[in-house]
Amino acid sequence: MKSTSASHSGKAHGKIILIGEHAVVYGEPAIAIPFKAASVEVIIKKTDRPVTITSNYYAGALSKAPKELNYLSVLLQKISSDFKKTIDHIDINITSHIPPERGMGSSAAVSMAFVQALLSYFDISLEKEQLLYYVDLSEKIIHGNPSGIDARITSSEEPLFYKKGYVFESLPLNISGYLVVADTGETGQTSRAVADVAKALKNNYEIAEPLIRHIGELTLKAKSAIFNNDLYTLGRTLSKAHESLKQLTVSNNSLDQLVKTALEAGALGAKLTGGGRGGCMIALATSRKKAESIEHKLLKQGAAKTWIHRLKGEDINE
Ligand code: PMV
Repeated sequence: MKSTSASHSGKAHGKIILIGEHAVVYGEPAIAIPFKAASVEVIIKKTDRPVTITSNYYAGALSKAPKELNYLSVLLQKISSDFKKTIDHIDINITSHIPPERGMGSSAAVSMAFVQALLSYFDISLEKEQLLYYVDLSEKIIHGNPSGIDARITSSEEPLFYKKGYVFESLPLNISGYLVVADTGETGQTSRAVADVAKALKNNYEIAEPLIRHIGELTLKAKSAIFNNDLYTLGRTLSKAHESLKQLTVSNNSLDQLVKTALEAGALGAKLTGGGRGGCMIALATSRKKAESIEHKLLKQGAAKTWIHRLKGEDINE
């Protein structure tokens, strides 16, 4: 967070959920990876106008912003009232390189960067857990019942093994291999998918509950495959998680098609990542060469954008 007296900045990055999405809402573990290829910066400056916002999505008075940006007003009011600060004239500038609504944690990253910039503007310093309290609050407005994983990974330098209500564990991915990330180009529908899983648990408990528990077991299996540098078991585990997510109805045709294409192109495993029903998928490859060949096939199949992420080390698109 680098700020001058005139300009206050907050930064965060996107994320990829390796495994455990949806089940993590119900107390099962998940593994998430910081995705620094996709980052966001929020800069707050004092102006002589009422609060304004400038972003790719909207530019103008915050009071007239579309409802999708409500969470920023709520955060602004909550932080001002908690710390007895008056909201005076500020300009909020958001530069985001995280595609929105793609399961990459865009909203949590914007909230995290915004909260950091605002606290710097008010000259308040908080512990990480207190910062996360505000990001969780905005995620609740956006997603209804978030697990908290997005909030935590957007400011983490390390991959995380996360269980709701527990302290999150750093999980260095000491495993060779590459992840190919592909965007379907369709906006995901996290809150609807999360709500539909809740509905399935209410109406079809005997079917939905074992699927949730199974995803939890697969996440533990993935964790031990990572410890044992067993890329093949990790791959198979990711594909099994996709099948369970599909049965929970959070996949869609585009995601299933890209998963199939990646497997046919030699991926060790593939699955959707994040909320699903659009957004992104991931595929596991043994080498960069293999990852590039999978990437090529995914683009040919219609993926809107792809990234190659090396698991061991932090380089992305080297
Ligand atoms: O689609 P995203 O990036 O918001 O990821 C959602 C992950 C879920 O497990 C589906 C929901 C959650 O809050 O953990």
